[in-house]
Amino acid sequence: MNDNAFTTTTGVGRLGPAFPFVPSTRIPDPDRRPLRIAALLGSARRASLNRALLRAVVRVLPDDAIVEPVAIERLPFYDADLEAADASAEVRAFRDAVSSADALLVVTPEYNRSLPAVVKNAIDWASRPRSSAAIAGKPVLLLGATPGTGGVRHALDHAAAVLAFAGAVPFERRLGVANAAERLGDDGGSPDGGSPDAALLTDLADVVGSFADSVRRVTQEQSAAA
Ligand SMILES: Cc1cc2nc3c(=O)[nH]c(=O)nc-3n(C[C@H](O)[C@H](O)[C@H](O)COP(=O)(O)O)c2cc1C
Repeated sequence: MNDNAFTTTTGVGRLGPAFPFVPSTRIPDPDRRPLRIAALLGSARRASLNRALLRAVVRVLPDDAIVEPVAIERLPFYDADLEAADASAEVRAFRDAVSSADALLVVTPEYNRSLPAVVKNAIDWASRPRSSAAIAGKPVLLLGATPGTGGVRHALDHAAAVLAFAGAVPFERRLGVANAAERLGDDGGSPDGGSPDAALLTDLADVVGSFADSVRRVTQEQSAAA
């Protein structure tokens, strides 16, 4: 468990209430810089279950990884004219946050059996210009939560397809959490992050750990090749 996950509010907008990361400058191994995982949250709702799921991710992060939430809810809708005019400060900050991260984490609800527009819009911005897309080559872990029983499968499938077309590399494992309020021990509004059930924390630690291992391997191969 990583009790000292360092975080910054990279990007635009606010992270919303009760985002209980503990800032720290602790780096577990001085010879290894931490993996920087930029997190895109698909719901800005005050009592978001997906925000609660992101908090649970931070609880199970490996010690050598940090999560940096990147707000996406205030990005303008993608507009090629705005892009041609060098985009907005918000878009530039968002793209910088994506391109400087080692990997992305998308934590999203399912809306009408697909991904929410706010997530699609963020991916669209990060995918352009195609020749220097911020998202190109980024490993992406997809997670989601729903109060229903469906498990967010459609949203995660659609997000994976969109990300792959945009040039990112969706991780082969995903985790959709059904009955999320019960499983997260949180209606989304708990200031202490709720109490996720043990099986959920185990599954989450497993998928997040294997994602971090895979990203670490890629970054090591890239540094060796450089
Ligand atoms: C427009 C809309 C469409 C939805 N469609 C689905 C859906 O297809 N599948 C599902 O499991 N839940 C669906 N829901 C319910 C969401 O999963 C639920 O509102 C969830 O709590 C949203 O995530 P959040 O708690 O992080 O805000 C939908 C909700 C809205 C507002």
